[in-house]
Amino acid sequence: MLGAKAFEPNRDMNSPNRNIAPISSEISDSGELVVGGCQLSELAKNYGTPLYVIDELSLRTACKTYIHSLKKYYPGDSLPLYASKANSSLAICSLIASEGFGLDAVSEGELLTALNGGVKGEKIVFHGNNKSHDELNFAYKNNVTIVLDNYHDIELLKSIVSDKKQAKLMLRLTPGIECHTHEYIRTGHLDSKFGFDPDDVKSVLEELKRYEWANLTGLHAHIGSQIFEVQPHVDLAAVMADTLKLAKRIGHPISDLNLGGGLGIKYVQEDNPPTIEKWVKVISEAVVKACRERDIDLPRLMCEPGRSLVANSGLTIYKIGAKKIVPGIRTYLSIDGGMSDNPRPITYQSLYSACLIDKPLNSKFEKVTIAGKHCESGDVLLKDFLLPSCESGDFLAVFGTGAYNSSMSSNYNRIPRPATVIVGEGSVDLTQRRELPEDLLQLDVLPDRFITKN
Ligand code: LLP
Repeated sequence: MLGAKAFEPNRDMNSPNRNIAPISSEISDSGELVVGGCQLSELAKNYGTPLYVIDELSLRTACKTYIHSLKKYYPGDSLPLYASKANSSLAICSLIASEGFGLDAVSEGELLTALNGGVKGEKIVFHGNNKSHDELNFAYKNNVTIVLDNYHDIELLKSIVSDKKQAKLMLRLTPGIECHTHEYIRTGHLDSKFGFDPDDVKSVLEELKRYEWANLTGLHAHIGSQIFEVQPHVDLAAVMADTLKLAKRIGHPISDLNLGGGLGIKYVQEDNPPTIEKWVKVISEAVVKACRERDIDLPRLMCEPGRSLVANSGLTIYKIGAKKIVPGIRTYLSIDGGMSDNPRPITYQSLYSACLIDKPLNSKFEKVTIAGKHCESGDVLLKDFLLPSCESGDFLAVFGTGAYNSSMSSNYNRIPRPATVIVGEGSVDLTQRRELPEDLLQLDVLPDRFITKN
């Protein structure tokens, strides 16, 4: 019957990051997986595989829960920003803007996507530890707030700004806070390429005070990603409130405090991240307490969720091809994608959950290893994973792929990138078309002298 919930009978309908599957997932009468009212096997047939699928209900619900929780727990103004590095497309930028989010971008490409997707420059912050002159210029011209990461940013801006318009700036600090997540995705500890060292903060605040063109509106820090603890953000609020007080003393009428992103999500059954509501409550209360203790006005509170907004709204459909049994060792099932559309397992040893889309609840299991099609032995998406017995031609859904998959994809082995569709209430829309092998030749230039004449 339609409505049975795959995998998670006790699904958290307000906090999509707490479920492996998108919150609209159901099982159809014929026992197949349905997301956003769309049968996945139909999507695979109509759009081909690999296919990224985004569940509109999950994404909108995550946005709404952030917005409602900020209103509920934070007595001052607030503005959540979508960390678009998680998944940047015109459709997603437009969707998050319609939910009232601003956006964090880290390149001209992300800025252009956001602006063209309808996010106003005034609601965008621009990050990066090595912004180029052209990128800064583009941000300045479009009224984007620039997050100063280092002295190089300041020097470049001096050659860009005009007398007529101040640059809106935030200052990024390295707060010196450790959290337990993969080493590559920790950013708040002292040995980090991001942000100003705490010892430099006072002098840079004083320096900025001397520049007519500099309008310092806020402070920023981001301590890492896929974090399940809440204490690091409580500690962060205190560090940031100290700096807020210092900045005000130096004469900056700062109104914004941005605590970055980082809330973790559920990739596998053992993962137990906090709800969005709890995370927002903890950071809100921590900021209120830290400001009251220091006798400073409440800033506008900003945060920058990426993964917890979009990861669990996404899944990827693959087609199973070759099967190889290494007797007594392992059974490999090869799929039609792999590390080029999901580089996270090979990069961070990340774990995922998956099911066959036409037998999501079948309980006869065999242990298989899902291998990608790239020329690397390490190109394995799921190792020793239990699936019902399956054969070549079956479709597999890998969950939790809405964040840092499409945005980190590559054309390794000249494999074209998948298409993306967004599903909701039984409709499906293409939001990124599939790359074609010919697309991959578009930027190649063959010098005349290399053309073979025979
Ligand atoms: N703000 C800043 C300044 C960031 O650098 C990031 C993520 C975020 C916000 C969003 O964090 P989130 O809410 O998504 O945790 N490629 C890695 C993740 C790298 C995160 C980079 N920065 C992965 O696939 O796990």
